[in-house]
Amino acid sequence: MCGIIGYVGKNNALKALINGLKALEYRGYDSVGVAYFLNDKIKIIKDKGRINELENNIDINDLPNIGIGHTRWATHGVPNKINAHPHSVGNITLVHNGIIENYLELKEELIKHDYNFKSDTDTEVACAYIDYLYKNNNDMLKTLHEIQNIFIGSYALCILINNDFNNIYITKKGSPLILGINTDEKIIASDISAIISYTKNYIILEDNDIGIINRDNYKIYNNNKLINKEILTFDKNIDSISKDGYDHFMLKEIYEENELINNTLNHYFNNNLLSSLPDISKYKSIYIVGCGSAYNTGLVGKYYIEKYLNIPVYVELASEFRYKKLFIKENDLVIAISQSGETADTIEAVKIAKERNAKVLGIINTYQSTIARLSDEVIYINAGIEVAVATTKAYSLQVLYLILLALRNSNIVINNIDKEINTIYNYDYKKYIKHLVNTEHIFFIGRGIDYYLSVEGCLKLKEISYIHAESYAAGELKHGTISLIDKGTPVIAIITDNDIAKKTISNIKEVKARGAHVIIVASDNINIDKEIYDEIISIPYNKYLLPILSIISMQLLSYYVAKEKKCDIDKPRNLAKSVTVE
Ligand code: AGP
Repeated sequence: MCGIIGYVGKNNALKALINGLKALEYRGYDSVGVAYFLNDKIKIIKDKGRINELENNIDINDLPNIGIGHTRWATHGVPNKINAHPHSVGNITLVHNGIIENYLELKEELIKHDYNFKSDTDTEVACAYIDYLYKNNNDMLKTLHEIQNIFIGSYALCILINNDFNNIYITKKGSPLILGINTDEKIIASDISAIISYTKNYIILEDNDIGIINRDNYKIYNNNKLINKEILTFDKNIDSISKDGYDHFMLKEIYEENELINNTLNHYFNNNLLSSLPDISKYKSIYIVGCGSAYNTGLVGKYYIEKYLNIPVYVELASEFRYKKLFIKENDLVIAISQSGETADTIEAVKIAKERNAKVLGIINTYQSTIARLSDEVIYINAGIEVAVATTKAYSLQVLYLILLALRNSNIVINNIDKEINTIYNYDYKKYIKHLVNTEHIFFIGRGIDYYLSVEGCLKLKEISYIHAESYAAGELKHGTISLIDKGTPVIAIITDNDIAKKTISNIKEVKARGAHVIIVASDNINIDKEIYDEIISIPYNKYLLPILSIISMQLLSYYVAKEKKCDIDKPRNLAKSVTVE
């Protein structure tokens, strides 16, 4: 998603903007730009492409003290220089994250007032509308209050006004925005990673907050009243956003899983704290909503909650949940799963759940994110900043917490799985990828929990290697898809559930008989005839945590395929880390 940065203070604003935009690169973008005051004039440098290309167009003699910047992930209008932010209309220059859904109606109204437009973007319309209101009332506070009832959709805005050389104006509705606070300087950004090299003290803007920010102080208003916002302190170290010697953030984050998972197990089982987790056994129905991998964790959660708590679980794509007929009753439980806590569809799904008086439990990675703040109760998974767009450690910890919630009332102890995870880490994945790197289609199959795991394994491979892959319930293959299996077609079969292993094995035989190249991801307590597969990734048996162990192997498999293909693993094309638009 788009990244926003703003700086006003004693230091070189351009340096702060570039550093901030680089820290936000992981959110995904296809164009970039900055705007700053120089010799009392606005200077804008922007284009399609990457930040390091933009840097080549910046005059190193420019030393402004105030400016705004933006990395754009195209929603309205192709990635090009005209559509890149910042946009400037009349006296207003701004950057925007979000979508103004009614921008066409606003554009028509503005054209009647002699505005004309160069770009295809909703943002240019928003900029022109703010200019139009400001021209009439000469009061930016009033203007930003008025847009709250005019702009439909979501926005986080950083605004400069011509001739107002010391202030940045900020506001948000539906998209994230935080303000970093330092003596003699202020940093505004979409998320914490862009400010922690300047300050660990920050405040989080809520919807309809309006801020007037300058180097020495800041004022935040809501509903026309000056308000006091709590200053939070970021307590993680800055190293958490460096690669620490790994080739990619994704690999680093996969290798962080061992410590994160075992720290979580130790926390709950060494201190007998499992019962400190919410007791979800009292609910009649449970909904799990999320998008992408977050949705996929819900599938695993469904399996465990239904198995151990005997409660029906409905796993819903948040983007579908919002528009379908719902049967949610008062006091049902809705579990909202999100790494970023800012996914637009999941935010809206949570709002619908609350409108229906359901209880909302968030399983979130990002502190004080929108979904965390909307939830009635939050479990923070404490995975640390996840930079790679393809989630790994957050997925695994979300799955772990769903398993722990399902087991909360069982008198069980789950021991450390450090050894088992290291076994998974130590396989030579280069051996497995030979038949995967140059293929066009790969199939993942499994039954029950193994099918649910195949869905995530499949997404991981697709999103970082760009190979087309499909996951199928193994029993479903012969109802059509098996026609696609040809000589050498790679099929990755997951078998961790002993109860249905025999059935999956017969499905594997069906594809093998048609020439498939079969890689099995199998728990080592299941006997499988060597005749039916070409390679096997053996997963050390563990009564409760086989999903965690198997998914780590598939994360690594995907990683090495993508690395062999020289893909942009941490920032795959077209993807964003946090999808803050619908
Ligand atoms: C994860 O690998 C994907 N990049 C994507 O599906 C992601 O899981 C989804 O966009 C949800 O994000 P969230 O967890 O931040 O809500």
